[in-house]
Amino acid sequence: MAAENNFLLSASILSADFSHLAEQIHATEQAGVDWLHIDVMDGHFVPNITMGPFIVETCRKVSALPLDVHLMIESPERHIESFAKAGANHLSIHIENNNNVHRTLQAIRSLGCHPGIVINPGTPAAAITSVVDMVDLILVMTVNPGFSGQKFISQMVEKIAEVKALVQSKHSPALIQVDGGITAETLPSALQAGAQVFVSASSIYHYPAGIQSGVKALRDAV
Ligand code: DX5
Ligand code: ZN
Repeated sequence: MAAENNFLLSASILSADFSHLAEQIHATEQAGVDWLHIDVMDGHFVPNITMGPFIVETCRKVSALPLDVHLMIESPERHIESFAKAGANHLSIHIENNNNVHRTLQAIRSLGCHPGIVINPGTPAAAITSVVDMVDLILVMTVNPGFSGQKFISQMVEKIAEVKALVQSKHSPALIQVDGGITAETLPSALQAGAQVFVSASSIYHYPAGIQSGVKALRDAV
């Protein structure tokens, strides 16, 4: 993994100032994050409505960083092509409420993206057993999806360890990602349990001393 401190940081632009999106993304890039995380919400699968392919296209224009797209939408299979065309590199779908998950993951790879599977806090790690060998990324939600700024659910640390055991038992090269409530205080426990990619919105974009210091605080957490 090409990162300092042996973990990757994926900055969730959900908490960025959209009236200065390009500047915020440039500052994030300069601060040394590894990926940009784009939270797509449809107001059905989760209570909030956020961004679509157009924002992914905008990010692609202003940054060379890998775009890590987290789909929190119903019927993701209807939209993966638009996100791939918009420039997504990682395209992750939820295991919940998704009857065609196997086919959709295959389709994501055939579109040239890295497929990812996401597990909500209420879903056991075992739910992803039959798709572990199809994905490049496993995202363990450490908050209930829908909003940034929520508190890290510490019981999820055990699930991260379960996912790590699953990945090892399948000899899968998939990276384990965590998303929600990641701060300099919560990051170390998730890292120790096996997380390798950390998504953060508030701890980067709402950090009182600015983006650069927010990223540094996360890097220095371990
Ligand atoms: C929550 C989103 C997260 C969110 C994280 O549904 O998937 O990516 O932006 O926000 P923080 O880091 O503030 O918890
Ligand atoms: Zn997310």
